[in-house]
Amino acid sequence: MKKIIQSLLRPKKKLKKKRFSKMASLEDLDLFGKTVLLRADFNVPIKNGRILDNYKIKQTLPTIKELIRNRCKIVIVSHLGRPRGKANPKFSLAPIAKELTKLLPRKTVHFLHHCIGKDVKDRIKKSKQGQIILLENLRFYIEEEQKDLSFAHSLANLADVYVFDAFAVAHRRHSSTVLIPAFLPSAQGLLVQDEVETITAARSTKEKSLWIIGGAKLDKLPLVKAALDNSEWVYVAGALCFSFLRAKGVHVGHSKFSKESIQVAKEILQHKNAKKIILPEDIVCSNSILSKGKTTTVNIDQIPSSAIGLDIGKKSTEKILTLMKNAKQIIWNGPLGYTEDNRYRKATNAVIKELQVTHARTICGGGETSELLVKQKARNKITHTSTGGGATLALLSKKRMPALDALAKSAKKFYLFE
Ligand code: 3PG
Repeated sequence: MKKIIQSLLRPKKKLKKKRFSKMASLEDLDLFGKTVLLRADFNVPIKNGRILDNYKIKQTLPTIKELIRNRCKIVIVSHLGRPRGKANPKFSLAPIAKELTKLLPRKTVHFLHHCIGKDVKDRIKKSKQGQIILLENLRFYIEEEQKDLSFAHSLANLADVYVFDAFAVAHRRHSSTVLIPAFLPSAQGLLVQDEVETITAARSTKEKSLWIIGGAKLDKLPLVKAALDNSEWVYVAGALCFSFLRAKGVHVGHSKFSKESIQVAKEILQHKNAKKIILPEDIVCSNSILSKGKTTTVNIDQIPSSAIGLDIGKKSTEKILTLMKNAKQIIWNGPLGYTEDNRYRKATNAVIKELQVTHARTICGGGETSELLVKQKARNKITHTSTGGGATLALLSKKRMPALDALAKSAKKFYLFE
């Protein structure tokens, strides 16, 4: 107990922030009275229209307030979920408009059901300086993810300048992330600026840096490879571990993996630093993902053919905790199990508990990760909670960030530093 209290009182080492000079910032734009197209990332968990975690929305407020102070007309665009180019009420941004209205005193955020078209243009034209308009989910248009020039042009046509504050999609090559800056003078928002400076400063620490990568998005696998050059240990859990286990010839029953993900994992295992990858030794599994399903813990080489792996077991959890105790920096992204069900949250909760008392610098990111930290009242004990998941891992791994490159190009094209 004494140890826990002492560690809570001891301030964690602050990160030395480094400024990215190539992108323009808000102060480099001529903002006063302008119509600003603001790309935010409001991809937040929503259940039955209720927002379960508004962290990402709150983190965008400093930029919105700065634009209000400059008497701008603010047109906000964002994506939510993966609706794959089709309008779907489940992924509507309407609840976000209500939440923003709650968070911004004396402001009403007007919601429009489309992103482009004459009606949208007219409504923006008619609105006054200082007003805020939120457009519907960008991903209701297939063109957003297809990097479509004419879609990007139509969006750019709605405003005078562009502000990119959607750090969590800075690693994506989509119309709004990489094409709009070619049409408008563009700058990073305050959230992007803070995330980039903080995460860039953190990536100089390679020694005793532990990366814990979990979650269910199999498209995150290539980031495991990138992590190998920037860490001492990479613990792979969540659904991601099954692709590696399959690649090593282990039978994982009905656990989540795909043909392609096994291939990617096989390639990663050829990497010269692949020995840094640590996989679970035991797995909690069940024959059904439903709450009635009976659970058992088995060694990794004994997963029954009818079972689904839903969490890592006790032995594996102990191993992670030991690594955490030895680490100087811990980077965590993605739950270690199927945390929607309490029975598969044990390993994740143990990691969160350790994150709160460790002396290591802690950087956590990703929607679910951040939601879980809030549930355990742990978020304010983390050195940096990023709004990005994949984006954070990509930046930490020194991968190219297409949206940031596009901002740098735009600054040059529109002479923003003259
Ligand atoms: C996130 O939550 O990590 C971002 O919004 C990116 O979402 P995506 O993985 O669906 O592009």
